[in-house]
Amino acid sequence: MINFGVYIHWPFCRSKCPYCDFVSLPAKNFDFNAWKSAYAASLKSYAGRLSDKTVASIFFGGGTPSLMSAELVSFVIETIKSLWPVAEETEISMEVNPCSVDYEKMTAFRKAGVNRLSVGVQSLNDKSLKFLGRLHTAEQALEILKTAKTIFPRLSADFIYALPDQSLSDWQNELSAILELNLKHLSLYQLTIEEGTFFYKKGVRPVEDDLAADMFELTDRMMYQAGLERYEVSNHAAPGHECKHNLLYWQGGEWIGIGPAAHGRFTIGGQFHAVAQNSTPQKWLETQACEETTLSTTEKAQELIFMALRTREGLDRNTFCSRIGKQPEEFMHEGTLQDYQTDGFLICDKKGLRTTAKGLMILNALCRTLLK
Ligand SMILES: C[S@@+](CC[C@H](N)C(=O)[O-])C[C@H]1O[C@@H](n2cnc3c(N)ncnc32)[C@H](O)[C@@H]1O
Ligand code: SF4
Repeated sequence: MINFGVYIHWPFCRSKCPYCDFVSLPAKNFDFNAWKSAYAASLKSYAGRLSDKTVASIFFGGGTPSLMSAELVSFVIETIKSLWPVAEETEISMEVNPCSVDYEKMTAFRKAGVNRLSVGVQSLNDKSLKFLGRLHTAEQALEILKTAKTIFPRLSADFIYALPDQSLSDWQNELSAILELNLKHLSLYQLTIEEGTFFYKKGVRPVEDDLAADMFELTDRMMYQAGLERYEVSNHAAPGHECKHNLLYWQGGEWIGIGPAAHGRFTIGGQFHAVAQNSTPQKWLETQACEETTLSTTEKAQELIFMALRTREGLDRNTFCSRIGKQPEEFMHEGTLQDYQTDGFLICDKKGLRTTAKGLMILNALCRTLLK
């Protein structure tokens, strides 16, 4: 069965981090009632068209959705439940900035139905946190993690590595300390310098490619030894603790995206639909404007391949064939596929198509050259 999820985007943060190109604006005051109406209207606009779906995951992302009131979060969850059947074991995740929650607020989110938290710790080193423009110290972030552990059944933390001036042994030491936190899920991102961000304008340079590759390998090895195998480029989990909602993106699931800049993918009557919500928060709040297109079979096939190659499981041949009606090889350059297999970047067999650990390191280049 193809899972169905709901993504809710909250586009505000307390301040803008210099590396971040997510749709997020610094803001202090919010008209929660206006957001209630807008989220409800957008959700309702899908209910009639997608009435045969059962919700398997809900994800509050941002921005900093932990700036939402617990009442608004509860309202959104209840609205979803009133529009679709929601599976009993549904994962309801929320991204949290350590500056925006305390015990009371986390308890209220839990009461509203949130059962998985993803905390943006970013670093255990205060100097790095300062460089990253974060408003919290490592100690404050750890305090929030400790409290969250007592409230939420599932917990993850985000970290950013490969910072300028960070050495391999710096990251090794930090990783050891991260592992001591005993979390079952970790998102470990290499710093990317995105166009338009403050870091980009300042000319901040990421670490050299060779060092980045060494750091990636070290991460892989240490996480594997700790029982937190990589299940996607930047995500590691103990068995059974993978993020269901994110897996849905990578494994060709269906979802609707609600809120500014949110994207959605779903199938109606055999047609692949792609939706992009308007990315200006005020405009979206007032109109819930969005653009919907249908994807050709080739576009959908390439998207399925591209996303699946990010994951350890890779692309499942049977599922792909039943959705697309063709073999995955038909969408790839034959010679390039052969070369990548011979060089140990890809595995293509009866089960499907998978990237090796070596292949993951050049994933973007690999997809650019592989797909027709
Ligand atoms: C939407 S934010 C998470 C929640 C919350 N807003 C916070 O920052 O604490 C998603 C995550 O993406 C990662 N991230 C964002 N921009 C990045 C970049 N340029 N390079 C690496 N990681 C980045 C950060 O680890 C961040 O926690
Ligand atoms: S990293 Fe998180 S807190 Fe910082 S600007 Fe991006 S979304 Fe906001």
